[in-house]
Amino acid sequence: MKIAPSFLSCDFSRLGEELIRMDKAHADLIHLDVMDGHFVPNITFGAPVIKWARPYTQLPFDVHLMISEPHRYIKDFAQAGADIITFHTECDSDIDSTIGLISSYGIKPGLVIKPNTPASAVFPYLDKLYMVLIMTVEPGFGGQSFMADMLPKVKEIKDYAKSIGKDILIEADGGINEETIAQCANAGIDICVSGTGVFKAENAEKAIAQLKALCK
Ligand code: DX5
Ligand code: ZN
Repeated sequence: MKIAPSFLSCDFSRLGEELIRMDKAHADLIHLDVMDGHFVPNITFGAPVIKWARPYTQLPFDVHLMISEPHRYIKDFAQAGADIITFHTECDSDIDSTIGLISSYGIKPGLVIKPNTPASAVFPYLDKLYMVLIMTVEPGFGGQSFMADMLPKVKEIKDYAKSIGKDILIEADGGINEETIAQCANAGIDICVSGTGVFKAENAEKAIAQLKALCK
């Protein structure tokens, strides 16, 4: 299991130190939640903050766009240093061309589905994707409760991927902590986002080690 601490839960007054802390704690990626106050009822940060954050760690930046028109901003996030960009099937941009745009910058594309969106929503695009992100809370805020009923989507997507001979990574996001991570591992999830569970833990290194141990 790979662990992607969600930057949303960090102390933004010490952004650089927080990233160094995650690096030392053996995080695998950094998950960055971009919200526009329109697609979701919350506003976080945009490409400039990601650009400032970029020099503090070599870890891959996994940028989760919760914005209505992702295609308008892909260039900005590419130039800010994103390694993976995921956006929602429920957004207003054309999905195929947005995936193409992300790939054109040499960035790995991923699609995200909200809790009410079926797994099949990603099937038509799967062959062009690096990752699918399954929301295990309603997007918008950290610190919500895990929705275990989202987990069957993992098998549905993996089975479909197998039928077309495609390798796909599955990430889950929302409410993942020591109580819920084992279920994610059993369901076949490859990457777990954890905001509160890692950043707010007393010792992030122990928290990440513990989360990984619970998956074995
Ligand atoms: C929710 C975000 C998540 C969130 C996770 O919209 O996409 O990445 O920060 O936070 P926790 O782990 O606290 O649920
Ligand atoms: Zn997220």
